Amino acid sequence: TVLSQSHPLVAGVTADSALVRAYQGVRHSTTPVWFMRQAGRSLPEYRDLRVGVRMLDACLDPELSSEITLQPVRRHGVDAGIFFSDIVVPLKLAGVAVEIVAGKGPVFANPVRTLADVEALPDLDPAALAPVREGVALTVAQLGTTPLIGFAGAPFTLAAYLVEGGPSKDHIRARTLMRSDPATWSALMDWTARITGQFLSAQIEAGASAAQLFDSWAGSLSRAQYRASVAPASAQALNSVRNTTYQVGDETRTVPLIHFGLVSTQLLPDFRTLGTGERMVDAVGVDYRTPLDEAATLLGSDVTLQGNIDPALLTAPWERLAEEAHTVLALGRSARSHVANLGHGVPPETDPTVLTKLVELIHSIDVRELPS
Ligand code: CP3
Repeated sequence: TVLSQSHPLVAGVTADSALVRAYQGVRHSTTPVWFMRQAGRSLPEYRDLRVGVRMLDACLDPELSSEITLQPVRRHGVDAGIFFSDIVVPLKLAGVAVEIVAGKGPVFANPVRTLADVEALPDLDPAALAPVREGVALTVAQLGTTPLIGFAGAPFTLAAYLVEGGPSKDHIRARTLMRSDPATWSALMDWTARITGQFLSAQIEAGASAAQLFDSWAGSLSRAQYRASVAPASAQALNSVRNTTYQVGDETRTVPLIHFGLVSTQLLPDFRTLGTGERMVDAVGVDYRTPLDEAATLLGSDVTLQGNIDPALLTAPWERLAEEAHTVLALGRSARSHVANLGHGVPPETDPTVLTKLVELIHSIDVRELPS
């Protein structure tokens, strides 16, 4: 992945932003904040735009995806946009038959269960990623000094949908395939790693200033299974974008990468290295079940933490939410630096004015002055 001279990091537009610097380990007195699923159904202006438009059609319309990405940035004053798209978009662009069903999630017409099924999976023509590149380019042109975060699904989380054919509780079919047919599994991991890596690379080249790999369902694996059958594919997906460099003065910096998984305390140390023995990401997103001081102990001192306000508190009395924000910011001091976020996505029923107020609160707190 190579950055052009006009890329916001290269051109110096986002290189000094609090968010990019926090991912790179530099602390400010206040904490940058954004929210997973900040775009979407919690916003009435999003619901208006989506009337009569299918989810994946919205993702592949550059004007629409860009406008939807910008909505929460304008409204909440968050420190980043996250590109409005979905983890299954690169599969769709490769030609896989997939729809996103409201209230349910991705559904595949032809589940992938045999070696023949995997071998029939189409390659992703880089030209097909044009709507993604255009959407990102339109977005960063309007974001100015606010960085855009790109993202992709990790191979395991994608496979959990592909093998099942849709959402599943504990991804049992995928885990059965993984353990009973290693050759098919490894071919599937290789395909998803390539496709999702292309999606990540396209977003970074088109102007994203950071990128997050979502392995939402990896927490359903044991540490041994994760390391043997999954982590190498996640590393492969990140290989195309890690060590993408740019210059600031005489300093060479790399585009920050973030890894996120749910219910995965047992895997946190592996999220740092993805089985390679070296650090593969700059930051790790922590779900709301693991306190940030524990996460910092598990991850060590060369990783920034992101998270982890419990989304359940968004509908609690304001005092409870404010308390939670103070606690999370105080615990965030145990890491080299911290980006505030929720422990998972914004629930659709969230009152968006609460999110705006939460951003104001987080920005008003000097973490050096919090009691320990
Ligand atoms: O604002 C953002 O966070 C950026 C956009 C984004 C979406 N999906 C948009 C979306 C991101 C980063 C994702 C990632 C994603 N998609 C993940 C990983 C993160 C996580 O939640 O753990 C997963 C597992 C998916 C698959 C998926 N897509 C699910 C489970 C759903 C929800 C289905 C539903 O209706 O509840 C989707 C659809 C989806 N992706 C929506 C949005 C805004 C809702 C669609 C709608 O508005 O109708």
